Amino acid sequence: MAAEDKIEDLKKRNTEAELGGGQKRIDAQHAKGKMTARERIDYLFDKGSFQEIDKFVIHRCQDFGMDKKKIPGDGVVTGYGTINGRDAFIFSQDFTVFGGSLSETVGQKICKVMDLALKNGAPVIGLNDSGGARIQEGVMSLGGYGEIFKRNVWSSGVIPQISVIMGPCAGGAVYSPALTDLVIMVKKRSNMFITGPQVIKAVTSEEVTPEELGGAMTHNTKSGVAHFAEDSDQAALDRVKELLGYFPQNYREKPPQLECADDTERREVSLNDVVPSNPRLPYDMRDIIRPVLDNKEFLEVQEHFAMNMITGFGRLNGSPVGIIANQPRILAGCLDINASVKCSRFVRMCDSFNIPLITFVDVPGYLPGVNQEFGGIIKHGAKILFAYSEATVPKITVVTRKAYGGAYIAMSGKHLAADINYAYPTAEIAVMGPEGACNIVFRKEIEDARDPEATRQKLIEEYRENFANPYKAAEVGYIDEVIFPEETRPKLIRALLMLRNKKASIPKRRHSNIPL
Ligand code: HXC
Repeated sequence: MAAEDKIEDLKKRNTEAELGGGQKRIDAQHAKGKMTARERIDYLFDKGSFQEIDKFVIHRCQDFGMDKKKIPGDGVVTGYGTINGRDAFIFSQDFTVFGGSLSETVGQKICKVMDLALKNGAPVIGLNDSGGARIQEGVMSLGGYGEIFKRNVWSSGVIPQISVIMGPCAGGAVYSPALTDLVIMVKKRSNMFITGPQVIKAVTSEEVTPEELGGAMTHNTKSGVAHFAEDSDQAALDRVKELLGYFPQNYREKPPQLECADDTERREVSLNDVVPSNPRLPYDMRDIIRPVLDNKEFLEVQEHFAMNMITGFGRLNGSPVGIIANQPRILAGCLDINASVKCSRFVRMCDSFNIPLITFVDVPGYLPGVNQEFGGIIKHGAKILFAYSEATVPKITVVTRKAYGGAYIAMSGKHLAADINYAYPTAEIAVMGPEGACNIVFRKEIEDARDPEATRQKLIEEYRENFANPYKAAEVGYIDEVIFPEETRPKLIRALLMLRNKKASIPKRRHSNIPL
């Protein structure tokens, strides 16, 4: 073959590979409102930066007539490039090729980019759109999944891993996303489940649609498996770009610093009135979080799950911070099982990647209830203590109102090695709230009184005056400063600046043993 023919031959091979499972299947993909694997990559990566590898890899299966059905690329597009100018690695499952199912070679392609990402210290993005294990390949496919899971674990806390679910993701295949840092699902077009509706019907007689069982909103509201639900492929990919902006390339680096156009000394007088004078009244903690952050921008993570706990990202003076906060509007901000898991995982993710933690506290305690106790609130609640104690990034706490009992300690109390603890004058820091405390401590006195109710109210008021304030804690140094709410932003920015070179460590060991 002459040289120019060889060039033509390569062009032809490239075109053939780029067509994946063929135009008919591409059209079917579009008809479902989905982009193809390559269109998704083009959309996500900076123009012209994507470098594909393993474009001509084909499967090696000989059974079921598969030797006659070989498509170059085999069910996944892999490679690297830049997203907003920063290196990133990707695998994008191609549903047009055997339903994006995972063959031995698809597994090997994914492992190759994961290894490159880990060696080079850059994030890996997985776009999932697959019928699961390649049925024709049996255990070879299962082996592929195992190799991917192992790499997900080895990469955990080393490089950011983001999964986007853009179609089916069933069976054991769900465990790769579950092992990554963040899971984004596309509404109405994606689902995740271990066993599908038909198997469930056969085994338990329960009838459920795929969307109800494992759609985006199910995993964003009920299970907490996913962190974001987006309306389209494009919106999900935009979310990936936005999220990467908060993360360093790997655990050795600091998160990217942006120019800050917002005034670092900005006082926000609205904050003086957010916490109601009546301690029983709720308010929206986001009315405190947003005004404090640069440009008042707050990206909430797991917005729809365990809404009594708020987690998310923002920036202060251009530096990314992780925000954790109780939400007094939901369950009075109590800590329950789901909130504990949500908070702990977020704290650990931020700590893995050098993202400082800012915690806003208004928590009456752990949620009482038989279901909570039977469900293991003891071990799940312990996760919060574990995660905060283990975290060595800068930790700043602001108590806006209630900080009672174990929850006072758990929500980044001084005793879990928080660096700076602020309180608003409206803070109430004690073992328990005035009502509960008086009912226990003064039970006899109340019972014996001529007017028990009036006595009870008088004692509660006295207790509130004496103990439901931030000053007892400030007297012993558990609160470093009682601040005016309006100065929260400048106070946080200065504390972060002071902590910018923080070095802290905890005792060395093989690894800790978090209560799971
Ligand atoms: C091989 C597969 C496949 C698979 C789909 N295809 N899944 N080929 N292995 N797992 C092929 C189909 O034969 C079809 O090929 C093409 O992909 C598109 O599939 P359709 O069924 O036409 O598409 P659709 O109607 O959109 O349905 C998508 C689907 C369905 C819901 C994903 O295909 C499906 O249920 N697939 C099987 C899912 C499954 O049970 N997988 C195993 C899970 S267990 P043609 O040539 O017609 O285009 C598992 C274990 C992992 O994954 C364990 C890890 C530890």
